[in-house]
Amino acid sequence: MTEAKLPTGPKGNILFTARKELQTNILGLIERQVLEFPDISRLRIGPYYFVNLYEPAMIEQVLGDSELYSKGRENANLKYLLGMGLLTNEGEFWMKQRRLIQPVFHKRRLAGFVQQIVACTERLMADWESRGDGEVDIHAEMTQVTLGIVSQTLLSTDASGDFMKISDALVILMKGLSQETVTLIKLPKWIPTPSNLAMNKNRAILDKMIYDIIAERRRTGVKNDDLLSMLMEVEDADTAERMTDTQLRDEVITIFLAGHETTANAMSFAIYLMAKHPEVARRVGAEAREAMTGGELTYESVMKLDYTTRAVKEAMRLYPPAWVIGRQATRDTVIEGYKIMKGDTMMIFPYLTHRLEKYWPDPLRYDPDRFLPENMKDKPRYAYFPFGGGARLCIGNNFAMMEMQIILALLCSRFEFSVPDGYTPQIEALVTLRPKGTLPIRVRKMKSE
Ligand code: HEM
Repeated sequence: MTEAKLPTGPKGNILFTARKELQTNILGLIERQVLEFPDISRLRIGPYYFVNLYEPAMIEQVLGDSELYSKGRENANLKYLLGMGLLTNEGEFWMKQRRLIQPVFHKRRLAGFVQQIVACTERLMADWESRGDGEVDIHAEMTQVTLGIVSQTLLSTDASGDFMKISDALVILMKGLSQETVTLIKLPKWIPTPSNLAMNKNRAILDKMIYDIIAERRRTGVKNDDLLSMLMEVEDADTAERMTDTQLRDEVITIFLAGHETTANAMSFAIYLMAKHPEVARRVGAEAREAMTGGELTYESVMKLDYTTRAVKEAMRLYPPAWVIGRQATRDTVIEGYKIMKGDTMMIFPYLTHRLEKYWPDPLRYDPDRFLPENMKDKPRYAYFPFGGGARLCIGNNFAMMEMQIILALLCSRFEFSVPDGYTPQIEALVTLRPKGTLPIRVRKMKSE
């Protein structure tokens, strides 16, 4: 039997040899790595070792074993913002919370959200109609609509009016967290550095909003059939205690942020792709009109939106909002003949695996039909995984897919999109993959309806 060996990788400490790129062009850096060290590589950043994995079979081993590979060091950074919510929590406490929250996202319940998602999208379209044809920042528009959807469906409140405040606060927080991750410089948050001051101030803005929603619910005593009421009323099976306000805040802020920012980014890139590929947009629009019952999009019609689903999936292949997923090895182990050392940070990049030529020929071409069942049947499970996998699979994946199908179908059934002359989008890889700055798109109401 051959002995396991450490994966090879770039020489030296990346923190010193590629510091600038690490901070300003991380996607370029990892794209070069995959060419130089295909499948797997190990590199050093400061005192830590990172193992980069691109191969589906190896990724499956990591995401499939949440005990051997814990959420780890990178996750600890996120706790500053999300506390012990579902995304950052681990162990038995996580499992208890996951079991508790799971039913809210059950396929059975999704049908009940269709009307609200349609209404939020209708509101956006009415606004576009009143403004007339012209240019919009599609990222701001998508943030507003997804915030409205997540807050109305899961918290029975409408946060879309605050979207600029929330969105600005989030960018500052995500930039701060990403810088801490790549530079490894993380001073305690009470030290008044400019970055700490800005992060604390913006976290307080989000906190206030969430605590206000909780307080308002307590004050009115209204019991809605939503996630918030469910979280407020559930009693611990052993102690009969209810969740503390801090735990409630952590769960609500997690769902609130994880549930709109990723979707807004995916939708922004999807609309950009519609603008670049009007033939796809026309087909999506036609499918929507055909699927409607009495001019309305119902749960049954959404189930018929096959081409739209493929268009959304293909957009997330090229621009997966969760562009990187991190784990940490809790003990020494071996993956496909490579030694993994306890404490190594495993870096998994949907962004790179989704663009590997061997699984996705001509990878930069946008083609929804890659996702036809006959084209997918021989692909490994982890050639495409925008929602992660294993026990920590995104809890909102069906919700998000349905939401994106509805938004894309309705928008393409009534509007045409184009990209302003000479414009190429800049992308930014922070905690999520997002357009850098604004994403201008020209919107035009279709003539023949
Ligand atoms: C396009 C949209 C979305 C994408 C690409 C996405 C992606 C992901 C990914 C990759 C993970 C796993 C992270 C890891 O393994 O470390 C995750 C987890 C999670 N997502 Fe999503 N997500 C989306 C939408 C949503 C929505 C709509 C919600 C809720 C309304 C949501 C709530 C969560 C939560 C709570 C977790 C943590 C689950 C756990 O660890 O048990 N996400 N998401």
